[in-house]
Amino acid sequence: MTSPAATLLKISGIEKRFGGLTALSDVSLHIQAGEIYGLIGPNGAGKTTLFNILTGLYQADGGKFLFGDIEYAGRSKPHILAKAGIARTFQNIRLFSNMTILENVMVGCHHHSHTGIWGAITRHKNARNEEQQIAHRAAELLIYVGINRAHHMLAKNLSYGEQRRLEIARALATNPKLLALDEPAAGMNATETDSLKTLLQTIRNHGVTVLLIEHDVKLVMGLCDRIAVLDYGKKIAEGVPSEVRNNPAVIAAYLGG
Ligand SMILES: Nc1ncnc2c1ncn2[C@@H]1O[C@H](COP(=O)(O)OP(=O)(O)O)[C@@H](O)[C@H]1O
Ligand SMILES: [Mg+2]
Repeated sequence: MTSPAATLLKISGIEKRFGGLTALSDVSLHIQAGEIYGLIGPNGAGKTTLFNILTGLYQADGGKFLFGDIEYAGRSKPHILAKAGIARTFQNIRLFSNMTILENVMVGCHHHSHTGIWGAITRHKNARNEEQQIAHRAAELLIYVGINRAHHMLAKNLSYGEQRRLEIARALATNPKLLALDEPAAGMNATETDSLKTLLQTIRNHGVTVLLIEHDVKLVMGLCDRIAVLDYGKKIAEGVPSEVRNNPAVIAAYLGG
C-alpha cells in the first residue's frame, strides 16, 4: 500500500514539560516510508523524551502523532503502538540479562503469537508448533543482526556491542514498520559501528523505516537520508546531511563543540 514516498509518521506540535522544564516545544517532523531519519542534538535536547512519547511511555502535553492510520495525541498504549508497527531500542540497554539470547528475541516474537493462554498452558500441539516456529525465527534474527553465539548464552555475557544488536533483533522480532533506535552506537568501537551501519542499511533495504538518535556524527551523516536537530526541546534545523552540517545554528549548538 505505501509507495516509497508515502509519509509513515507525522509528528505535529509536540509539547512536553517536566515541572518547570520544557523538554519539547512545538516539535513537528514527518518521516517518509523507507527513510533513515536521524535525530541529533546536544545532551538534554529532548531526543529520548520524543521517543518515549512516540512509543507510549510518556504522555505529551500537546501535539499529536499520525502513524499509518493511527492518530494519537497525549498518550497511546505501548502494546497498541507495537502492534501498529513501531519498535524501539533504549539508550540504556534493556535486555532480560539473565535470560538466554534466544529467549530475549523470542519475547519480541510473542507479540505476533496467535496461540492463546490456554494453548500455552495445556501445551496443545499447535502451541508447541508455534513455539518451535518462534524459536526458529528468533534464531534467524540472531544471525541477521550478526550474533553468532550459542543460543543458550545469557544476554549479560554478550559484549556491549552485541547486546545493542540483540536489542535490535528483539525489536525486529515484532515485525515493525518503524524501527526507532536510541543511540545504538553508544559504547561501540569503530569496527562495531561500521557493521552497525551496514546492518541498518540492510534493515532499511528490507523495507523497515529507521528513526535514529545518535551522537556519532560521522555515522549519522553517512547513513541518514535526512536529519533533524533538536536543541533545548526545539527543532532548530532539518534537511539532508550536507544542509545540516553547514547550518550555522547547528554548528553553534552542536557540531561546533
Ligand atoms: N522523566 C523525567 N523527569 C524529569 N525530567 C526529565 C525526564 N526525562 C527527561 N527529562 C529532562 O528533559 C530534558 C530532555 O531529556 P532527554 O529527552 O533525555 O534528552 P536527550 O535524549 O536529548 O539527551 C533533560 O533536561 C532531562 O533532564
Ligand atoms: Mg537521550
